[in-house]
Amino acid sequence: MKTDPSTNSLHDIGRVLVVDDHRQARESMADVLRQSGHDVQCCSSAAEALQVIRQETYQCIVTDLKMPGMNGLEFIVQLKQRQYGAQVVMVTAHASVSSAVEAMRHGAFDYIEKPFDVDRLERLVRQAIRHGRLVGMEQEARQDGNTARPPVMIGSSAAMRVLREKIDQVAPTSETVLITGESGTGKELVARAIHAASRRAGGPLVSLNCPVLSAHLMESELFGHEKGAFTGADAPRTGRFEAAAGGSILLDEVTEIDLPLQAKLLRVLQEKTFERVGSNTMLTADVRVLATTNRDLQAEVAEGRFREDLFYRLAVVPLHVPPLRQRTEDIPELVDYFLHRSAERLGREPCTLEPSAQELLVHYSWPGNVRELENFITRASVLSDGTPLDAESLRRWLAVQLKPKNETPGDMPVGLSLQETERRLIEATLEHYGGHRAKTAEALGIGVRTLSGKLRQYGYAPRAKSLAKAG
Ligand SMILES: Nc1ncnc2c1ncn2[C@@H]1O[C@H](COP(=O)(O)OP(=O)(O)OP(=O)(O)O)[C@@H](O)[C@H]1O
Ligand SMILES: [Mg+2]
Repeated sequence: MKTDPSTNSLHDIGRVLVVDDHRQARESMADVLRQSGHDVQCCSSAAEALQVIRQETYQCIVTDLKMPGMNGLEFIVQLKQRQYGAQVVMVTAHASVSSAVEAMRHGAFDYIEKPFDVDRLERLVRQAIRHGRLVGMEQEARQDGNTARPPVMIGSSAAMRVLREKIDQVAPTSETVLITGESGTGKELVARAIHAASRRAGGPLVSLNCPVLSAHLMESELFGHEKGAFTGADAPRTGRFEAAAGGSILLDEVTEIDLPLQAKLLRVLQEKTFERVGSNTMLTADVRVLATTNRDLQAEVAEGRFREDLFYRLAVVPLHVPPLRQRTEDIPELVDYFLHRSAERLGREPCTLEPSAQELLVHYSWPGNVRELENFITRASVLSDGTPLDAESLRRWLAVQLKPKNETPGDMPVGLSLQETERRLIEATLEHYGGHRAKTAEALGIGVRTLSGKLRQYGYAPRAKSLAKAG
């Protein structure tokens, strides 16, 4: 039976974009997907697809990996940069499975090998669409959570206990808090917990995602503007500092604010005053500032990209959220929580895990931290057929990054990218030297600055010790 794709009665039918440079492959995939009720469009290159998605919304993109010009992997990176919400299914030749797994690390939903099995393609696309819907629901719930319930923070490891105590201590004060930690560790969640437990909880929590804005837009976003302040400013506009009056403002990824604007931000922190762009009227900021970064802010200061005085102002109270691999005790609790939440949203019983699967999840390194675990569990819940999941079925998703506890760099599996190999070697060496950067750099035969640069690239947080000085 054909389903009308415009109705959402079936939650896994949607709009699909097929990208492949081979006409025949493209058309046969499109045919299969149309047969099952999807609304399908095709593109013959990633570049063309990037144009098309500027106008159109798709729930799923099926893309070939090997294409002339931009390949499927680069395409995924571009989609991610544009924060395009579609789920991606990668089509690959058997020989390039390691690239397909790499694609999944960049957020692809799954991959399918050529020559592809029609049923599997159909099933994967449906699952991808359902997964996307679930992720969307989670995002909405999070946004609602901004104003409604206090955020749920799972984990009873010692590290999480310390973090909760610090949150309790700092929340009632009006101090500025700098929350550091790798990507996906829960920095935003911590910020929301602080706001919820503060005296300003009744006021708004306004957040500004700094990386997505140009310098020019950011100033007007933060402070607002008057009519005619610049070309295109047709009407006056309230900035986030005004919108957050009586509440808190969260400057997400604060290092992305450029130097001239950092000076203005410093003034707000010191004098609690600011002006809208194009105005001389001084306004008072009745706002508590919370900021996050996944960079080494001290290194940013050392390299002249971040103002030192602003750093000290922001880091009045530094809070560090440790990476998940340093609090593996939290993993079973988090898994359980995410399994139940996914099940609730899918309207079915939570799927269960064999002990081998549990163990696998605890031993995995989770480079994307809690967010990666959350996505993983959502995906496993969507894919599960109701039988308990064993390690074997999970391993497929984690294939390349599997990191047994006592693995040494010599044991690295074939199929690992050079970049990932480098990251692991650096991590292992850093661990060996107890986090001592000079010794680590010496052992690796590189300069400390190069090492810091690489660590920053991997999303390492500032050193706890140097930050403590600011406290
Ligand atoms: N302790 C936790 N308990 C429950 N959910 C958590 C926990 N930590 C993180 N999460 C969830 O993991 C996801 C990522 O968290 P969050 O967005 O706060 O991370 P982040 O550090 O701000 O990441 P990024 O640096 O990428 O912005 C969110 O969906 C969040 O709700
Ligand atoms: Mg964040």
